[in-house]
Amino acid sequence: NDSTKEKLIRIHEESAELFHHILLNTKIGEDALAYLTQRGLTRDIIDTFNIGFAPRERTMLQQYLLGKNSEQELLGKTGLFVEKDNGDLLDRFYNRIIFPIRNQQGKTVAFSGRIFQQEADEGAPKYLNSPETQLFNKRTVLFNFDLARPSIRREKEVILFEGFMDVIAAWKAGVTNGVASMGTSLTNEQIHLIDRVTDHVLIAYDGDPAGIEATKRASDLLAAETNFDIDIIRFSEGMDPDEHIKKNGADAFNELIAHGRETLFGFKMAYYRKSLNLSNESERLGYIEKILAELLSVTSAVERELYFKQLANEFELSIDSLKEQFQQKFHDSR
Ligand code: GTP
Ligand code: MN
Ligand code: MN
Ligand code: MN
Ligand code: MN
Repeated sequence: NDSTKEKLIRIHEESAELFHHILLNTKIGEDALAYLTQRGLTRDIIDTFNIGFAPRERTMLQQYLLGKNSEQELLGKTGLFVEKDNGDLLDRFYNRIIFPIRNQQGKTVAFSGRIFQQEADEGAPKYLNSPETQLFNKRTVLFNFDLARPSIRREKEVILFEGFMDVIAAWKAGVTNGVASMGTSLTNEQIHLIDRVTDHVLIAYDGDPAGIEATKRASDLLAAETNFDIDIIRFSEGMDPDEHIKKNGADAFNELIAHGRETLFGFKMAYYRKSLNLSNESERLGYIEKILAELLSVTSAVERELYFKQLANEFELSIDSLKEQFQQKFHDSR
């Protein structure tokens, strides 16, 4: 006698298989498959991530699941349906490419569906996620964490991406330790999931202004927890990792991951500088104050010395005066 949760998981697994089959083997899946192919996804990748397609017809999934002896009452708890005024169910996901969302045990607990025919869906969200259910709490799930875990251990590092397509494109390029949150900011629950496997985090969010803000937020959250080593990759021209790989190739991406990283401190110097007018004396002083405050969290003395030199050179200040001010801050913060 299965528990409700086990039944809900079985329904998700069966649904994923149906969507996957429709994408790969049917006429109605052809346009979606062409879209994915044009984005560079291979059959192998589509299988690995069990990607599928939910067709236009909004009673298909329901009919299929009832035919598999699922109880009607249970379907309402899956989040896979919306209820009409008369109580009838309609499939929530239709005419979308379907990405199964797995929990850390590798069980499918939700879906995210992407539109791909923009003109037909004016105003519809690009990605539609399952709602919160008994199985799915989006704060606690990291996309691809189950498949990435072995390489996170091997590489001793996890890579945080913004999007599912970034995780998938990186995987195809041979970078298999990538995960993504569910389109929301990184949560403490997700940080604790990571914390159990590694203390090195590489943030590789989109290179647009939103991605840079999200990088700052995520790094602040991570730094508030103990002992994370945080590095940053910034993608040029506002590109996201998927676009970067498409434009520059897998080798260039691997090279960037290996040797193109910034320290968190370097990222923050650039971040604060960008928002200030450094030819204005008071903003310049404000900047130096901020950087000195950041230096409090740099634990390596050698690294700190390096940044003092950088700051001193940049603003034609003596290292001694910077250090003196730092010492003051340091004591204040105790
Ligand atoms: P592609 O356009 O398919 O390459 O996706 P992307 O990952 O580059 O999208 P984007 O950078 O715009 O957004 C990053 C992530 O935010 C996505 O992977 C989704 O998880 C999430 N997201 C984007 N748009 C929406 C939306 O309309 N609704 C919801 N719920 N999430 C979204
Ligand atoms: Mn370490
Ligand atoms: Mn973005
Ligand atoms: Mn993106
Ligand atoms: Mn993208």
